[in-house]
Amino acid sequence: MKPSIEDIRHLYKPKVKPIEWNHNGHLILLDQSKLPFETTYVTLTTPEATADAIRTMKVRGAPAIGITAAYGMVLALFNGSLSTLNDALEALRKAKVVLDAARPTAVNLAWATNRMVKKAMDLSNNGDAKTPAQLRELLIKEAEAIFDEEYNAEIAMGLYGLEKINEGDTILTQCNAGGLATGTGLGTATAPIKIAHALGIEVSMIAPETRPWLQGARLTVYELMVEGIQTTLITDTAVGLVMYKGMVNSVMVGADRILRDGHVFNKIGTMKEAIIAHEFGIPFYALAPSSTFDMKSKVDEVIIEERDPDEVRKIRGVPITVEGVPVYNPVFDPTPPKYVTGIITEKGIIYPPFARNIPRMIGE
Ligand code: MRU
Repeated sequence: MKPSIEDIRHLYKPKVKPIEWNHNGHLILLDQSKLPFETTYVTLTTPEATADAIRTMKVRGAPAIGITAAYGMVLALFNGSLSTLNDALEALRKAKVVLDAARPTAVNLAWATNRMVKKAMDLSNNGDAKTPAQLRELLIKEAEAIFDEEYNAEIAMGLYGLEKINEGDTILTQCNAGGLATGTGLGTATAPIKIAHALGIEVSMIAPETRPWLQGARLTVYELMVEGIQTTLITDTAVGLVMYKGMVNSVMVGADRILRDGHVFNKIGTMKEAIIAHEFGIPFYALAPSSTFDMKSKVDEVIIEERDPDEVRKIRGVPITVEGVPVYNPVFDPTPPKYVTGIITEKGIIYPPFARNIPRMIGE
């Protein structure tokens, strides 16, 4: 019998805690830019500091930056100079502008700030919040609800993903779409593997290092090894060979944005994995909650973030090329729908034709 979300909540206990809210108005983040070499935390008290932590990737991964931004909105209401509800709503609108500008590609960020503003307006219009302090307490609950819904969604995705895994399988991923990337400790692409492991089903993962920021080498390897899941690190350039040699049963990746037509925006290198998987008949799945879907944008309208050239010229501060060489450093790519076998969401698995089936499952 298929385990329930409650069963998994009892069986699986996350081993990493990337985001913690302390009720004195402090948002505490595990600094992912330093992992796995240092386990340090940053304490944030303003929306500006939160946006900066997102920009500098102390917290990263689409759902995690959404949850962080939701708490970042709440931090705007810890400013003692807010005396009326209108002041508070204005502070939230300003915080939203600052937070939304932190990173452009993952849609979860603006999804979360929109939800917080909408909730604040509803609470003030229906009289549930009469003072900035009351609004603040109710918005903390909303941010907690976003976190909780994300965790339940990941368990649901994990259970759907489990249907695509057999004992002994090896799954190739890209970047880190694990519990660090979602803030919950479970993850999206890693959820089926972690749940399988918790149920005693032997599975293993191949993690490409994911240049330039090395989310695979630093973060995916770290969080899977902490859980005792067998993980093999490869260079990004070995992706074709491991598939050619039959070492991969399926590909499971996360997503930063999924369009209505099935284009999957995820970490640079994902598109290459999908195309090679297609060539060798290996199923390619993207796992993401409904908050990752963008039902409005066309593929060419999505901004693909380009980051500092020095991320490519250097590895962890050490130069690897000729100083000043021109660099192109896009950090996401759009996988065309024809290479996607299925999109695993908390509502179920979406199969092609995506243009018809995504709106049916996700809604408008
Ligand atoms: O640049 P990052 O590290 O924020 O990129 C993260 C990814 O591309 C993840 O795969 C994606 O956000 C999904 S996280 C569950």
